[in-house]
Amino acid sequence: MHLLCSLDTLPADTSKGFLLNDISLVAINKHGNIHVYLNQCPHRGVPLEWQPDQFLDLDKNFIQCATHGALFRIEDGECIAGPCPGEMLTSIASKIEQGQVWVNLPCT
Ligand code: FES
Repeated sequence: MHLLCSLDTLPADTSKGFLLNDISLVAINKHGNIHVYLNQCPHRGVPLEWQPDQFLDLDKNFIQCATHGALFRIEDGECIAGPCPGEMLTSIASKIEQGQVWVNLPCT
């Protein structure tokens, strides 16, 4: 596994972008649970954020793609509104150990 960040740098209900081994990732802390996805919209394959580390909609309930506004559930990455309903963000396995977030990167 690869070290992503310290849990302290990802407070509850925030999102953050990372570049790890040339792979662009987004991590979200929702109520203390960490969810990590590839930073790539399944609609057109582009990065999701509208500004650095801004991946969530205004209410912080969904991940929102900046390009056409698709909304993805934070818990499983499924698109529930927008141009690609039912499509999924690519989930990255993660775990928290001793205050650090670790991820299992896909093979490149
Ligand atoms: S590229 Fe993300 S919704 Fe179109």
